[in-house]
Amino acid sequence: MVEGMREKPSRTAQHVALFRALESARGQPRLFTDPYAAASLPPSHRLVVAAARLPAAGPRLARRVERLIDRRWPGGPRASAVARTRLIDDLVTDALAAGARQLVLLGAGYDSRAYRLLAVRAGADPAAAGRGREAVDVYEVDHPATQARKRRLVERRVPAAARGHVRFVAADLLRVGAADVLLAAGLRPDAPAVVVWEGVTNYLDAASVDATLTGLAGALAPGSRVVFTYVDRRALDGTGTFSGVDEWAGTVRAAGEPFTFGLVPDELPGYLAARGLALTLDRSTRDAADRYLTPLGRGGEPAAPFYRVAQAEVVSRPAAAAATAETAVAAAPTRERATEAVPSAGQG
Ligand SMILES: C[S@@+](CC[C@H](N)C(=O)[O-])C[C@H]1O[C@@H](n2cnc3c(N)ncnc32)[C@H](O)[C@@H]1O
Repeated sequence: MVEGMREKPSRTAQHVALFRALESARGQPRLFTDPYAAASLPPSHRLVVAAARLPAAGPRLARRVERLIDRRWPGGPRASAVARTRLIDDLVTDALAAGARQLVLLGAGYDSRAYRLLAVRAGADPAAAGRGREAVDVYEVDHPATQARKRRLVERRVPAAARGHVRFVAADLLRVGAADVLLAAGLRPDAPAVVVWEGVTNYLDAASVDATLTGLAGALAPGSRVVFTYVDRRALDGTGTFSGVDEWAGTVRAAGEPFTFGLVPDELPGYLAARGLALTLDRSTRDAADRYLTPLGRGGEPAAPFYRVAQAEVVSRPAAAAATAETAVAAAPTRERATEAVPSAGQG
């Protein structure tokens, strides 16, 4: 995120919400239903979604609207966003089924997994404990400008009883460490967590991506999972040939949030291992589209081969990092006051 954007909510977060709202406006079968995405949009985008939903016009109009959107945002961001959203939904559900009881949304934007994924929200219901469902603690971390808008939306749309499991942590990840702010907000380093860092690394720099991954590996319990997206660096530095990259990069540049960082898939296992993480999955959003869209007859939708989803597991914490994490927890404020104590650099 560039300096000029610091005062304003992220525009690319709104683009992703528009893509999710359009997917949710489709008839079944669709990849997911995000009932909150449309509410995150400015009026002009809401009109687009309303047009796609017009029942009298039928599915053909909805598809025409999507094609218009694909021309307005060329290079595949819409199909990539919906395919990766579904893949990450499944990865989060798997991690929770494997025992994680903490979910971190890093650079959360208008991600509504805390309120829409059954595996997360079912545990938030006070009656759930009686039915043997354990609550999932959710931490939504974002830049203060975007998070302030998200919080207002959530307060308007989600009943208080259905959001008590969510803690908002305002932080500029270019200035503060994700692990530090999470521990200060109450994240437990002794219990497995799943972290989703979706659509963010490409807007950061090498030092902050390094610090975030190293910090998470040092703070989270072994076995915790970090799901993140990245752009293939060869698409950014011109050493690879990928269709659509110039168009997509041009759109985010025009939105004031240019692509600034990428990784090379072949180097990813070693890069992660050096930071205490083991790569367990690495797929392009084109691969995700082949898995989820092609069976629905939608394989022709333009998902990008240079935009990728990876999952890594925390291998083990070096003793020094574990001790630091425990100390941070001992010094952390009580849960109720946690977010107030979190450093929110930038315009916090
Ligand atoms: C493309 S949006 C993705 C949002 C969300 N993860 C999703 O997939 O819907 C990028 C997000 O990264 C966040 N972001 C960008 N730079 C950041 C920074 N320096 N610190 C914290 N968050 C940042 C933005 O505020 C925005 O919410």
